[in-house]
Amino acid sequence: MRNVAVIGSQWGDEGKGKIVDWLSEQADVVVRFQGGHNAGHTLVVGNTTYKLSLLPSGVVRPDKLSVIGAGVVVDPWALLSEIKTVQGLGVKVSPETLLVADNASLILGVHQQIDKAREALRGERKIGTTGRGIGPAYEDKVARRAIRVSDLSDPGELRTKLSELFAHHNIYLKAAGEPLVSVDQAFAELTEIAPQILSYAAPVWRHLEDLRRRDKRILFEGAQGVMLDVDHGTYPYVTSSNTVAGQAATGSGTGPTTVGYVLGITKAYTTRVGSGPFPSELTDEIGQQLGERGHEFGTVTGRKRRCGWFDAVMVRQAIVTAGITGIALTKLDVLDGFSELKVCDGYELDGEKLDYFPSGTKAQASVRPIYRTLEGWSQSTRGARSWADLPGNAVKYIRLIEELIHAPVALLSTSPEREDTILVKNPFED
Ligand code: IMP
Repeated sequence: MRNVAVIGSQWGDEGKGKIVDWLSEQADVVVRFQGGHNAGHTLVVGNTTYKLSLLPSGVVRPDKLSVIGAGVVVDPWALLSEIKTVQGLGVKVSPETLLVADNASLILGVHQQIDKAREALRGERKIGTTGRGIGPAYEDKVARRAIRVSDLSDPGELRTKLSELFAHHNIYLKAAGEPLVSVDQAFAELTEIAPQILSYAAPVWRHLEDLRRRDKRILFEGAQGVMLDVDHGTYPYVTSSNTVAGQAATGSGTGPTTVGYVLGITKAYTTRVGSGPFPSELTDEIGQQLGERGHEFGTVTGRKRRCGWFDAVMVRQAIVTAGITGIALTKLDVLDGFSELKVCDGYELDGEKLDYFPSGTKAQASVRPIYRTLEGWSQSTRGARSWADLPGNAVKYIRLIEELIHAPVALLSTSPEREDTILVKNPFED
């Protein structure tokens, strides 16, 4: 039996929520292993739309265990508010169905304050973060001064750690002309919610090991995308965690061999929110059309996403750095009706041809896409449930993508609905 990790192969927003939800039917447990409530996963089940940020997508299915691993940065207030929202939609969430790693680091108000202050200071060169405090919270974790979930059970330790943490941050806040943070206030706010958070806290690595030994199926749910990975993405225009599949093991407390098939969710074109290089971006009418047809607005921040042609160079690189076995191609229907489609299959930099995305900031901003042009299709692919329902040119487009990225299409999603999915290869089956 093998487990599956689902990750985004571009800049996030590839439609992971739907695919994870679809796969979670076959899983026993769904684990989030990085990121925080910067993620926005939309699930459409019947007439209900669930917008999840921190909770694993399996939470909407009864009898599935949802796990938030140690690699996630947890805003405890955001977590409680999301639990309340989904409970209001009839979803059962209890300490039997949700486990939060007791060694996960917390996002506090100060992290959001610093995130926003830094972005304002960067001005034109801002990252375009979600403002959720993700970067500053990961910095504190790596600097060994973070407050972790388990600290909530020890008021004395919590107060000492908060004093150390805030002494550090107040130096910066003072210099930046920002209001200072108060230990007493944060302590009071955290102790108020501590019992609720602690009711979900657990050594999740032990639970996962137990499930693994009992041959239960684990689905690892990534957030963001490979090009936002802090090492392998378009640094510094990235998020502050590793989004590649290797993190599924580290961020949940299991070994790399526990992760079997790696499914890379891949949009049939490209989008990006926030700043940073985007070689195949379309700032013309076609980009506008892609955005309108694809409803390309951020789930978390409502920001308009930048749109462009499919970049096969970028995805080919993501396949390698993230260890992707096969892809789930999403939103093909957004391309319906275009007379002509382009796919980027190389870059040009200072007169030279490149078949990979370079790591220098200047080079990343300067590469020019080299395109292949294909004939489009006029028929609708929306809701197609079999290969035979697809127009010939759509099949050609998919085959070209497979050829250029060096990975097969395992799933094809043809609408936000659960059932509108064409299965080529079930990632859970060998
Ligand atoms: P942060 O994760 O809030 O620090 O934002 C860093 C970068 O990652 C920004 O460009 C964000 O727009 C982007 N980002 C963060 N989370 C997501 C996501 O879930 N989807 C797409 N982009 C994201």
